[in-house]
Amino acid sequence: MKVLVTGGAGYVGTSLIPQLLAAGHRVRVLDNLTFGGDQLLSFFAHPRFEFIKGDVRSRDDVRGAVRGQDAIIHLAAIVGYPACRKDPLLAEDVNVNGTRTLAAAISREQLVLFGSTGSNYGAVEEVCTEETPLNPLSLYGQTKTIAEKHLLENCSTVAFRFATAFGLSPRLRLDLLVNDFTYKAVTQQYLVVYEAHFMRTFIHVRDMGRAFLLALDNAERMRGQVYNIGSEDMNYSKRDVCELIQKQVRCYVHYAEIGEDADKRNYVVSYEKIRRFGYRTTITLDEGVAELVRGFQVVGFKAPYSNA
Ligand SMILES: NC(=O)c1ccc[n+]([C@@H]2O[C@H](COP(=O)([O-])OP(=O)(O)OC[C@H]3O[C@@H](n4cnc5c(N)ncnc54)[C@H](O)[C@@H]3O)[C@@H](O)[C@H]2O)c1
Repeated sequence: MKVLVTGGAGYVGTSLIPQLLAAGHRVRVLDNLTFGGDQLLSFFAHPRFEFIKGDVRSRDDVRGAVRGQDAIIHLAAIVGYPACRKDPLLAEDVNVNGTRTLAAAISREQLVLFGSTGSNYGAVEEVCTEETPLNPLSLYGQTKTIAEKHLLENCSTVAFRFATAFGLSPRLRLDLLVNDFTYKAVTQQYLVVYEAHFMRTFIHVRDMGRAFLLALDNAERMRGQVYNIGSEDMNYSKRDVCELIQKQVRCYVHYAEIGEDADKRNYVVSYEKIRRFGYRTTITLDEGVAELVRGFQVVGFKAPYSNA
């Protein structure tokens, strides 16, 4: 298939591109290169890879990019609680208006796979299914919720509400909880953790890619639906995550009684619906932490945002 990936130069996109190419798809990326383009260099040698520098908010850029594509994987966004808080107007413009611009440019024949998020649920007492009312607590979750609804109403869409990603990718994100905690454990040997009992749900970034591949192969059956993507085995408290990291890295963890986590998400998710399509995650948190530890020991990263 011919697949456009908006935001393909990001953390998820640069992990997904090789998976799409390996599955035989043609891959076109539309990205404004917020984080530069070095992470894309290795793909240019591939004859089925193409890059367009452009903005999802520009009608002309989007029209040109979607032309002739069978499927659009929409990832371009201002991602995460800290980045959205830093520039709320930009977050709303890219996440909501950018998505509307994209929706207006594509036909019903073109499949849209949307990288949505479990942040849409907020803090929920019962186990979240796809039917649980959405109650996003952050601007990030709010803008993603609006974008998801717009795509489901106006395009032929499969929306994936992903767990929080972890693992190495060519454009590494250190604001993600597991990546951030592991980075601090390796580089400063201590962690300060607020609200350690908060429950979160995790997925390796390459398992996110496998969900997109599944949807490209099962578009007719999956269209028009929302799916939680992750695994019940990977619903962990923040304390669980710290204890798991401590098994691999010598570090001191201070569980702070005073202070709070600005990211108030606290939820447990059911992944039964996607399991009916045979989807299972393949990479455990232990394996992901081990991969991160190996990476952090050799490469220095700048961490503008932090989770702890
Ligand atoms: N990583 C996760 O845990 C996670 C979980 C759930 C959902 N998602 C979703 O997956 C998608 C990708 O997330 P990520 O982790 O790769 O984030 P990221 O910040 O690494 O990537 C976002 C990409 O979008 C691009 N972009 C930003 N504004 C743009 C614009 N105006 N026009 C064109 N491109 C633009 C950036 O340059 C970047 O390459 C997002 O939509 C995010 O909401 C991510």
